Amino acid sequence: MHGYTRLVVWLLLLSSCSSYFGHVTSDSDVQCLKDLKQSVIDPNGVLEASWSFSNNGIDGYICRFTGVECWHPDQNRVLGLRLGNLGLEGPFPPGLQLCSFMTALDVSGNNFSGPLPEHIFEQMAYTTYLNLSNNSFSGVIPASIRNMTYLSTLALQHNQFDGGIPAQLGNTSQLISFNVADNSLSSLVPDSLQRFSAAKFTGNPGLCGPPLDKRCKKRFRMRIHIRLVWVQVMFVRIQKLLRSINDASITGASAGFILGFVVAFYFPHKFLFCGRLQPYTFRVCG
Ligand SMILES: *[C@@H]1O[C@H](CO)[C@@H](O)[C@H](O)[C@H]1NC(C)=O
Ligand SMILES: *[C@@H]1O[C@H](CO)[C@@H](O)[C@H](O)[C@H]1NC(C)=O
Ligand SMILES: *[C@@H]1O[C@H](CO)[C@@H](O)[C@H](O)[C@H]1NC(C)=O
Ligand SMILES: *[C@@H]1O[C@H](CO)[C@@H](O)[C@H](O)[C@H]1NC(C)=O
Ligand SMILES: *[C@@H]1O[C@H](CO)[C@@H](O)[C@H](O)[C@H]1NC(C)=O
Repeated sequence: MHGYTRLVVWLLLLSSCSSYFGHVTSDSDVQCLKDLKQSVIDPNGVLEASWSFSNNGIDGYICRFTGVECWHPDQNRVLGLRLGNLGLEGPFPPGLQLCSFMTALDVSGNNFSGPLPEHIFEQMAYTTYLNLSNNSFSGVIPASIRNMTYLSTLALQHNQFDGGIPAQLGNTSQLISFNVADNSLSSLVPDSLQRFSAAKFTGNPGLCGPPLDKRCKKRFRMRIHIRLVWVQVMFVRIQKLLRSINDASITGASAGFILGFVVAFYFPHKFLFCGRLQPYTFRVCG
């Protein structure tokens, strides 16, 4: 939790320093909420009823809006947005980078849809809690999410994300809660996330590898397999060829080389020496 403590202390310092500048610097937080309100479809009128910007001028007025948490009640400085289960719709809110001191975003249980911004890291660099679960978000999980190094909770379950999970995501011990169950993700679970239980990955028919029981497709493994066989066969053949040159029986050696290559190509499984290649082929042989 070291990184997190440092972050909080740092944000607190920054946030209290900036109070010297009054509400001028926190105008951006107000703009952040205005942009959010404008982009969100609000069938139940929740934001419509509560998020009124006509009181501007009173420091901290946004802190009384539904779902808005502030660092300090009389300062327009957003700490977190808790907008779960409000029946909201629309795209991922744009302009969140204007809420530059925000550490938590919960929009779970709504009907948000469409892709996440590719540069999500730049919009939410200091976010520690991100709960987008139970919506209709789609597209790939942006690779830049792995640069959100303060994230301790990432809940993306029950959406329609596809593609692979970005490699290196969660390679710090900072990430303690992670869930991508019930999406359309595919490919291997990155090593950096294998510490989470299988339940956090279930409901993605294309995902494979530990901690899931499902092993990755043969096609993927075959490619490594053939490449390794090729290297192995070449090595043995060249060794033999050199030896036969010494024996001055070049014709026989070349014939053997070609025959060996053809046989290895058509019957690669006969040429996979699991014992010798063990460190490289555990997926293939294991
Ligand atoms: C995310 O939100 C869902 C729905 O509100 C909730 O069930 C879940 O516990 C939350 N996840 C975390 C890690 O807080
Ligand atoms: C998802 O949200 C819907 C309504 O928004 C709710 O009925 C359902 O229980 C939620 N599912 C989960 C798994 O949180
Ligand atoms: C969610 O939004 C989609 C369209 O974006 C709509 O078809 C669907 O009915 C909505 N679901 C709910 C539960 O409101
Ligand atoms: C992460 O940040 C580094 C530098 O801070 C940058 O070079 C890299 O492109 C970023 N990665 C992604 C996926 O955004
Ligand atoms: C984690 O991933 C990031 C981004 O790819 C990289 O910069 C960093 O060195 C990795 N850290 C570890 C411990 O692997």
